[in-house]
Amino acid sequence: MSEWKKSNWRNKPRVQMPDYTDPTKLHAVESKLSNYPPLVFAGEARKLKASLAAASRGEAFLLQGGDCAESFDQFSADGIRDTFKVMLQMAMVLTFGAKVPVVKVGRMAGQFAKPRSAATETVDGVELPSYRGDIINDLDFTPEARIPNPDKMLQAYTQSAATLNLLRAFSTGGYADVHQVHQWTLGFTESEKAAQYRDMATRISDALDFLKAAGVDSARAHTLQTVDFYTSHESLLLEYEEALTRLDSTSGKWLAGSGHMIWIGDRTRQPDGAHVDFASGVINPVGLKCGPTTTAEDLKVLMGKLNPENEEGKLTLIARFGAGKVAEHLPRLIETVKSEGANVTWVCDAMHGNTIKSATGYKTRPFQSVLGEVQEFFAVHKSEGTIPGGVHFEMTGFDVTECTGGVWEVTEENLSDRYHTACDPRLNASQSLELAFLVAEELVKFRQNMDLAAHG
Ligand code: PEP
Ligand code: CO
Repeated sequence: MSEWKKSNWRNKPRVQMPDYTDPTKLHAVESKLSNYPPLVFAGEARKLKASLAAASRGEAFLLQGGDCAESFDQFSADGIRDTFKVMLQMAMVLTFGAKVPVVKVGRMAGQFAKPRSAATETVDGVELPSYRGDIINDLDFTPEARIPNPDKMLQAYTQSAATLNLLRAFSTGGYADVHQVHQWTLGFTESEKAAQYRDMATRISDALDFLKAAGVDSARAHTLQTVDFYTSHESLLLEYEEALTRLDSTSGKWLAGSGHMIWIGDRTRQPDGAHVDFASGVINPVGLKCGPTTTAEDLKVLMGKLNPENEEGKLTLIARFGAGKVAEHLPRLIETVKSEGANVTWVCDAMHGNTIKSATGYKTRPFQSVLGEVQEFFAVHKSEGTIPGGVHFEMTGFDVTECTGGVWEVTEENLSDRYHTACDPRLNASQSLELAFLVAEELVKFRQNMDLAAHG
């Protein structure tokens, strides 16, 4: 096999990528980015890989979440803080409920490029190229706004660096200290689940007080006071990805320096395509979205390319079939994984197979379908004897009205109140927390069953 190069993808068929019209400008941006510092380091990617390996064995559980698309306009410290807070709350609910460490990975600090189902969009008889995320073009419906502009990669890099800087500060600077478990609540989530969270937080504080009184506190203080929080995004805009790829001096291997984990979308997973080629050569953990059209044949080839050494934690298969369809598709993919003896971490993206158009014209996702898909995912793993390793959500700390349902019910009529997403509909803070309690129930049941099987 010829040696992998970070630019090899350029010789492969590519889809879902912009055709830049000004090559001089594009090259100037690429060359600038290749001199900028990477956003993440190889040691961090290796640590995440080890945690994902633990998730594949049922010794940890992945919580991956964040915006569908990060936005330049909506960039703010409060936005980052609130999404981080909700993820900490969700992780705490899962850890406390299921007694399992939670691996926290944000769709943050780099989640800018979007694949689209159609290349163009028509409004009132005017047809323009589709919006492809703030790293590529603008959402405004004008011909100028939709022209791909390489300079936007520089802004995406800067925003990612600033986001990651704040996330690192929150993770280690005291904010994520478990003693703050009461402070992670958000003012507007006065739902029944918020009360349930407060109740759990009180039990955690009591346990911490007890440990302190018993003299246990200080020895493990570091573990309790900081959190590992990782970043991830779809590796779609390969000019950007290549420019941030760096040689890791420790291993002599290549690292995608744009984020800790990258994934390949359901529309760009062609086994001989550009996106698979790029992801096949980097040491980062890689996610592969698996939708209803994923065939066993393709999956075999993809697993071989994306995890040639069959490392644990290297490849995460992110199933996104839609509620009511998991039993039809997941078992055949699990069968393929089993017959290949492949190591993978199974994760459920309960968003992308559940998008519908509401009667009021908004794209939405019913809370019940999101929950339903997670429940079906757990049920299939139970019957196959395999491990549900985590969940993947599009969510925000803001009080948006984009997905319907939840205990604080968002109706189709409410969708227009605060529909702010730059792309797909996200769970709001209250829906996210509610979901965490319901996922925890599934995880508790699953783990009880696993224990019974192990000891029975
Ligand atoms: C996404 O994760 O935002 C996405 C586009 O997913 P998929 O490739 O699974 O459709
Ligand atoms: Co999305």
